[in-house]
Amino acid sequence: MSTRHDTIRAVLWQDDRLQLLDQRILPHRHVYLSYEEPAAVAQAIRDMVVRGAPAIGVTAAYGVVLAGRQRYRSAGAAWRDQIKEDIARLAASRPTAVNLFWALERMERLIAGLGAGDPEAALLAEARAIHDEDIAANYRMGELGAALIEGEGGAVLTHCNTGSLATGGYGTALGVIRSAYAAGRISHVYADETRPWLQGARLTAWELVQDQIPVTLLADGAAAHLMKQGQVKWVIVGSDRIAANGDVANKIGTYSAAVNARYHGVKFMVVAPTSTVDMSLASGELIPIENRSPDEVLALGGQRVAAEGAAGWNPAFDVTPAVLIDAIVTERGVVFNPTPEKMAAMMKNT
Ligand code: MRU
Repeated sequence: MSTRHDTIRAVLWQDDRLQLLDQRILPHRHVYLSYEEPAAVAQAIRDMVVRGAPAIGVTAAYGVVLAGRQRYRSAGAAWRDQIKEDIARLAASRPTAVNLFWALERMERLIAGLGAGDPEAALLAEARAIHDEDIAANYRMGELGAALIEGEGGAVLTHCNTGSLATGGYGTALGVIRSAYAAGRISHVYADETRPWLQGARLTAWELVQDQIPVTLLADGAAAHLMKQGQVKWVIVGSDRIAANGDVANKIGTYSAAVNARYHGVKFMVVAPTSTVDMSLASGELIPIENRSPDEVLALGGQRVAAEGAAGWNPAFDVTPAVLIDAIVTERGVVFNPTPEKMAAMMKNT
């Protein structure tokens, strides 16, 4: 693993239970929390113990394993009816990342084919498959995305955290960055701090330091200035949901980075597995955007920084229109300058 600069795993199935690295307290403390109750898993997703679209999907799948165990023990054959309540609770945990619904629907399809007996082994095999497939997709996207970065050395800019912490492992945008660094195509990473939750400062910087990839942190507002100076050749980000026309929802500030990139002639790459693509939505305008507590904007680390009396606005995601995107990298291939037709053709690939 170390040759790929890849040593971190945030979601684990160990000792017959789910373990989540608590991302709320990184980078200062590294604590795995243990889960045996599906309701607690839903709460962990809502509270951002675990976050990042693919990681949320993998976690929810393991949540269904715990639900199947608990319901079968307490209700026997009635587990098949009762588990619907647990799945609905998991689905209500966060609204934007479609990987959550994709993973739950996959578990539901499996359940539809199961009998009334103990479901745990079958549910666990499916959750493990979702997890393993996500890591495999990330390795593949790492190769495909890194191949788009021409030359040797130089830097890229990323936004939010899209690494091992945000996925089953390795990462989407950060997976491409890991692969590109290992191949010598880049020598440095600039990371937006990603206000207000500071995924860049707390998580991306930590991940890259752990895996010995040089990283420089900047305030989100400094990104345009960095691009103007010709310091980065690509902006590389992940996604929470991609619509059928190639519009991309991602962490708030991504749209701003894309506008700035186009203005400065910097290429813009989105890296996401096909489990992030929602072909049922014609455009990004239809993607539900999570609004989080204004306190995340008004305070830092629990300490109020804004003037008393000021209100806060805290959309957690924005939508970057397809026209600003040079390449969407999935495990099924790369879509350049996305259009509905190109997205549909890519989704038909196997
Ligand atoms: O609110 P978060 O931290 O869950 O948001 C995460 C992001 O926006 C990531 O960029 C996205 O999920 C892609 S992660 C591989």
